[in-house]
Amino acid sequence: MKTIAVVTSGGDAPGMNAAIRAIVRTAGYYQANALGVMRGYHGLIHDEIIELNPRSVADIIHRGGTILKSARSEEFKTPEGQARALDNLRRAGAEGLVVIGGDGSFRGALCLQEAGINVVGIPATIDNDIPCTDFSIGFDTAVNTVIEVINKIRDTATSHERIYVVEVMGRNSGHIALYAGLAGGAETILIPEVEFSLDEVCERLISGYKLGKAHSIVLVAEGVGGDFKTGRSINESSAFRVANYVREKTGFETRVTVLGHIQRGGNPSANDRILASRLGARAVEMLMEGRGGYMVGVINNKIEATPLEEIFQREKTLDLEFYRLAHILASQ
Ligand code: ADP
Ligand code: F6P
Repeated sequence: MKTIAVVTSGGDAPGMNAAIRAIVRTAGYYQANALGVMRGYHGLIHDEIIELNPRSVADIIHRGGTILKSARSEEFKTPEGQARALDNLRRAGAEGLVVIGGDGSFRGALCLQEAGINVVGIPATIDNDIPCTDFSIGFDTAVNTVIEVINKIRDTATSHERIYVVEVMGRNSGHIALYAGLAGGAETILIPEVEFSLDEVCERLISGYKLGKAHSIVLVAEGVGGDFKTGRSINESSAFRVANYVREKTGFETRVTVLGHIQRGGNPSANDRILASRLGARAVEMLMEGRGGYMVGVINNKIEATPLEEIFQREKTLDLEFYRLAHILASQ
């Protein structure tokens, strides 16, 4: 293996740069060249391929985002798009590709693997919704961002004795809400994986008030969606609907904060930099060993490779013990 390419695809995540650095420098260590594909699969189709070397990845380990930029590409989902992408990779001399991204990016990675080039995936998404790895790059940083915000909201919530409903990202997954809720001491956590009744939420808030709590924080994952009464999906922020319901039912004053893309930026945490460095290095070693069609992840703090096909058959699980614990601790 003389030349390895790397691409970042899908939603960006803090720590992607640390992974790029690890890939380029591990390739250098094994006397291989590194290429960077700009703008995800879009750039691969449009031949936006640049040379990278150990110096071009200097001073990026601490930066959020991705120096290679990211994009989404509908064209890449077509056989023609994939054929062009493969052709460009081959003409650039790439013999292996590392795809840093989420589930959609790995589906694309498998197409390229099946078309004849070795590909290894690295899970990177703040949502932490990828199976066969305990954590994906960016999740830890996003959780830390959320708890920083919760700390600030606590100050004003205490002063005004209000209920604050905070909406966090997670697409269809509640990992960010669960971890940030436990670490931030939220009174209630609403996630798509667990059915809940807003009437029960209101009762919990009322009993917290009776216990003398100065404020309450309700953490809502964006994916809880749907009409809470009819189950029909409606296109409005979950947090606003929760806040309106609580206000009408309890008479408490409510305020809403939707964190949005703040959660995708910022300097990666130490955990994310370490995870990115370990996964980046392992991905290159796999390609050096001639192994493609895998995602490398971390399971029980060990780096493990799982065939890409298996990733699509498995469901990411969420530790419901965390959910139980967060609510026990908040109920006193
Ligand atoms: P993520 O990787 O974060 O889940 P997306 O779902 O947006 O992000 O996927 C990123 C890109 O991966 C898409 O823009 C598309 O080019 C490619 N992709 C997604 N799904 C498929 C698929 N089923 N087949 C081939 N390529 C796909
Ligand atoms: O990166 C994951 C994620 O942040 C989801 O939680 C969110 O729904 C989605 O990406 C939004 O991404 P974009 O605004 O880039 O489409």
